[in-house]
Formats: sequence, structure tokens, C-alpha cells
Amino acid sequence: MSVLSVRDLRARYSSNGPEILKGISFDVEEGDFFAIIGPSGAGKSTLIRCINRLVEPTAGTIHLRDVDVLKLGSSDLRKMRRHIGMIFQEFNLINRMSVMDNVLSGRLGYVGPIRSIFRTFQDKDIQRALELLERVGLQDHVDKRADQLSGGQRQRVGIARALMQEPNLLLLDEPTSALDPKISREVMDLIRSIATELKVPVLCNIHDVQLAKETCNKIIGLQDGNKMFDGLTPDLDQSSLEEIYAMEVL
Ligand SMILES: Nc1ncnc2c1ncn2[C@@H]1O[C@H](COP(=O)(O)OP(=O)(O)OP(=O)(O)O)[C@@H](O)[C@H]1O
Ligand SMILES: [Mg+2]
Repeated sequence: MSVLSVRDLRARYSSNGPEILKGISFDVEEGDFFAIIGPSGAGKSTLIRCINRLVEPTAGTIHLRDVDVLKLGSSDLRKMRRHIGMIFQEFNLINRMSVMDNVLSGRLGYVGPIRSIFRTFQDKDIQRALELLERVGLQDHVDKRADQLSGGQRQRVGIARALMQEPNLLLLDEPTSALDPKISREVMDLIRSIATELKVPVLCNIHDVQLAKETCNKIIGLQDGNKMFDGLTPDLDQSSLEEIYAMEVL
């Protein structure tokens, strides 16, 4: 069985607005690291956000293992989201909180940060947060405020926070587009090696086609809400790229 199975997914932001996703289907298997590529406005972020229902699709189905995601009531949806890690372009850290507290807040899934400040974490959570911070190379920055870190370090906090959720799926929306090319590669390599270690499948929106090819084993190409490519990275050739990017000059 696929980890994630999406069928004929459609989305629009308002009932009289344009259709943004026009019937997208794909499967994510155990061990997959998917890149979602395509021109700006193609619907990449919308697709990622439909998976955990930050955007409500208008039609189609999403199954996360045996869970019918679009049928979940609000309390089951909250539970499901606790195990879907998200990593964002802008890192979405709480600047005035320490690195440690930012990572611990991942334990609460999508619960607001304010509650995490008043919550006492168990020793095992703190131990796990320390392990993860060491794994992402931030063991010397545990007590710093998040806004004292560089962009690359901030994204490493974002990675540790997502892993704190013990995710069974990672959704990444342009995790490296605020970073320079060298740091982007380091961050993608880190995400890939940790995802492999923990056996967590990944769906990752990414602008940089070269970096996508270096990091991901499978690629989905979107253009104007349609899927133009879905396959193994080595099969993404020049003609598929031209189809995905239409008339855009690469
Ligand atoms: N909250 C929103 N309300 C209305 N329209 C939106 C909203 N978010 C996105 N859109 C529209 O949906 C379309 C797809 O946007 P989306 O952000 O999914 O594209 P994208 O492929 O992620 O682009 P980018 O590469 O620039 O991040 C665009 O036309 C965009 O204007
Ligand atoms: Mg986007």
C-alpha cells in the first residue's frame, strides 16, 4: 500500500475563482523523496497544503496509509497533523524563543506556540530534542534565541522541530529558497539523510531543478494546476522540462 495516495485532487480558493489544481493524482511509496517542480503559480504550495488540509480541496481523495484524509472531523484532523511534519521557506520560528523551545514546540504539532511556553515538557521530550539538535549540528546553540542564528541554522531548527513530531510524512514548501546555493545543498542533503534514516517519505516543493535532481528520487512537474510529469528523477529529460515550464526559458 502507498504511504500517500492522491486521486483527482481539485482545489480553488473561492467558489467563483479559477481552479488551481485541476485533477492531480499520484502515489508516494515508502522511501520516496519527491520533488514538486513547476513555474511560479503552478499550484505547488496549494498541493502541499491540500495534503494536510490547510487548504480544503474541492474534489478528489487523499489517503494517508488507510486514513481517508478528506473525511476526518476536526479532532481527528488535528491528530493526523501532529504526525505530518512541515518545513517552510521562511522557517516560521518564534524569534524570541530559544532554539530548544522552538524544537519542543514541534511536540505539540500545530498547536499555537503560546501554549508551549506554559507547558512542562517531559524529560524524554527534552532528551529527544537534544538528540535532534545534535543530529542537525546545533548542539552548541541550544539556548540561543532563534533570531541569533543564520538562515541555514534557522532552517536546521525547522528540521529538528518537524522531526520532533515523529512524522510519518514530511511536507516541505521551498525549504531552501531563502538560503544561498551552498547552504541550500547542505540543508537538502541533511533532510535527505535524516529522512532515509528515519524512513519518512518526503514531498518537497522546490524551484531549483538541479537541486531537485541531485536530492530527490522522484519528481512531479506541475504547470497551471495540471500534472505534466510524474516519474523517476533520471527520466526527467529536456523535453519533459520544456513541457513543465512551457515557454519559460530555463
Ligand atoms: N490564499 C490564496 N487566495 C487566492 N488565490 C491564491 C491563494 N494562494 C495562492 N493562490 C493562487 O493560486 C495559484 C497557485 O499558487 P501556489 O502558491 O500554489 O503556486 P506555487 O506553484 O506554489 O508558486 P510559487 O512557485 O510562486 O511558490 C496562483 O495563481 C495564486 O495566485
Ligand atoms: Mg509556492
